[in-house]
This record gives sequence, structure tokens and C-alpha cells, in this order.
Amino acid sequence: MVRHTATSVVTIDRFIIDQESRQPKASGELSGILYDLVVAAKMISNKVRSAGLADIIGAAGTENIQGEVQQKLDLFANDTIVKAMDHGGRLCAMASEEEADIIPIPQGFKHGKYLLLFDPLDGSSNIDVNVPVGTIFSVLKKEGEPGPGTTRDMLQAGHRQVAAGYVIYGSSTMMVYTTGQGAHGFTLDPSIGEFLLSHPNIKTPEHGRYLSVNDAYEQHWEEPVRALMRRYRGLDGKRDAMNVRYVGSMVSDFHRNLLGGGLFAYPANAKNPLGKLRLMYECNPLAFICEQAGGAATDGTQRILDVQPTELHQRTPVFIGSRGDVAIAQEMLAR
Ligand code: AHG
Ligand code: MN
Ligand code: MN
Repeated sequence: MVRHTATSVVTIDRFIIDQESRQPKASGELSGILYDLVVAAKMISNKVRSAGLADIIGAAGTENIQGEVQQKLDLFANDTIVKAMDHGGRLCAMASEEEADIIPIPQGFKHGKYLLLFDPLDGSSNIDVNVPVGTIFSVLKKEGEPGPGTTRDMLQAGHRQVAAGYVIYGSSTMMVYTTGQGAHGFTLDPSIGEFLLSHPNIKTPEHGRYLSVNDAYEQHWEEPVRALMRRYRGLDGKRDAMNVRYVGSMVSDFHRNLLGGGLFAYPANAKNPLGKLRLMYECNPLAFICEQAGGAATDGTQRILDVQPTELHQRTPVFIGSRGDVAIAQEMLAR
């Protein structure tokens, strides 16, 4: 086993190989998917970094499947991931938050055994105001016969993910990923174009400082959710008040809370009975990482990773972060 100390320079490629070598049965295909995602992440990062300079800010004038205005960078990120991933021979289908149907592997290319699901640009409404955005991905394995992947192949509970991760285009670009052997963070060194291991084996605090929720929806929440938020704010006298931080870009809010401790919540409300966030593109991958870091994620009644999806673009309420803080949500919402 290779040991990585805080002082050794470890590229993400090197780290991926080291982790693969700990899995005697690994074929190298999953590592190949991660390498290709790293390339896509660098390309998107480069574009995001020049967003204020190039003429790419603003809406593209089209709407995605959820009827939201697509930003030009959404489309760029989507296409970049598809083009980086569709010809490697390791995937049998992809699905994107930005596309109604699954994305098949083009004719002429080999089908692999893995499925890739992604949110190409999370928090894209923040691009115009220079607030960090991100990319989220989830990798599943197709069961059964080899060949083209189907929507049905993708409808697996999150605990079956074989890898998941996100990239945050913040004050620096970081990638955090897991293959079930801990959650590890890498920071892009722009001078050499490499992601370097900066946050090995991330562990999130048991209880946290930060509460991230859009409380403009308070009037539309059910009473148990209102009571829960009063608890987090220390208003019922049963715990110290958390600090509220909400950027409106789930990757950014999640990342801050993962490192600093706390809870991100997007509850159901009367206008959105299942909340807003997508189970398979946003909640499952972040829940996998959060659990690997010692945290937890629930929809209020069950563990996010145990939710059996019935639709690709399914939404779910989510409470994710420090284990002790998520436990309070579970307890107060289950009653
Ligand atoms: P996306 O840009 O991929 O559509 O995601 C936006 C999401 C998420 O990133 C964020 O936490 C949430 O929408 C914010 O929603 P509200 O404005 O309703 O709070
Ligand atoms: Mn998103
Ligand atoms: Mn998005």
C-alpha cells in the first residue's frame, strides 16, 4: 500500500492507480473513466475561468427538460463531458440533468459495463455573478448482459454507485471523488495543469457550524420542517444556533459544509412536493461522498442512498452533512 503524506506531491492520476491496485479484481476501466472525467473537468474549468472575458455569459435561449433556462456554459459543460466520455469503450450509456433521454454511445464505439450520470454545471444561475459553480458525477455498473445501457439499467439505488465525485470551480478548482475507499480532494495547479492531492481522506465533523437552506420557502414548508429549522437556529433553546450560509449552488454549499461541518437542506415545499434537487445527478453522488467522509444524507424518512429511483430525473427532498445534524432531521421529520 502506498502512503501519501501531506508533503508528498501526488497527482490525481497517480492516486487513481494506487487505489486501483488495492482492488485485486480491478480491470482498470473505472480508472479510465476517472481519467477522462479529469480531462473534462480541466476543459470546463478553463472555460469557466474565462467566462467574464469571452462572450459566453448569459442564457443560451433554450430550456432544459425541467423547463429551466439553460446557460451557455451548461451546454458547453454538457457537450465537453459527452465528447470526453463517449468513445472510451468503458461506458454503455450516459445521462445528463440537461438532457431528457439517456445519451447512447455513438455507433462504431465499444460498449463498456459502466453508466455515467452527471449534472454538467451545478448552480449555473450563479455564473453571471462570479459565484462558484460545479460539476457532479455518478458512476454505476450495468447489471446483466453487456451491450447498450438503458434507462432501466440506470434506475439503481445510490448505494450501488461504484464512484462519485464533484468538481468545484471556486477560488481554485478542486475535484473530490470516492470509489468507496474514502473521499479525497485534489486541487488543480493551473501552472502545470495537474490536480494534486490536497485533501486526503476527508472527514466531516460530527456536528457542524453551518446551515445551508433557502428559507424564503418557509411559508411553503410543512410544520415539522419549520420546527426543524427553528432547532438548527437555536430558537427552541435545545441547541446552539448554527450560522446560515447559502450560496445557491449546491456543490459550493455542500463543499463548505463537508470541510467545515454542517448541514445542507432542500426540503419539500408546497410548491415543489419533492423538493428541487435531482436524486441521481445531485443527491446520490454527494450522499456517497458525504457518507465516505463520515457524514449522512436523508430525504427525511430514509437514507438517500437507499431510495429506489423510478425515474431518471426524479427529485427528492434532501438533508445532507454532518451525521449528528442529519440525525436531528431524521428524528424530527420521522415523527
Ligand atoms: P442547477 O444549476 O444544476 O439547476 O442546480 C441549482 C440547484 C442547486 O445547485 C442549488 O442548491 C439550488 O438549485 C438552489 O435553488 P433555490 O434557488 O430554489 O434555493
Ligand atoms: Mn444542479
Ligand atoms: Mn445543472
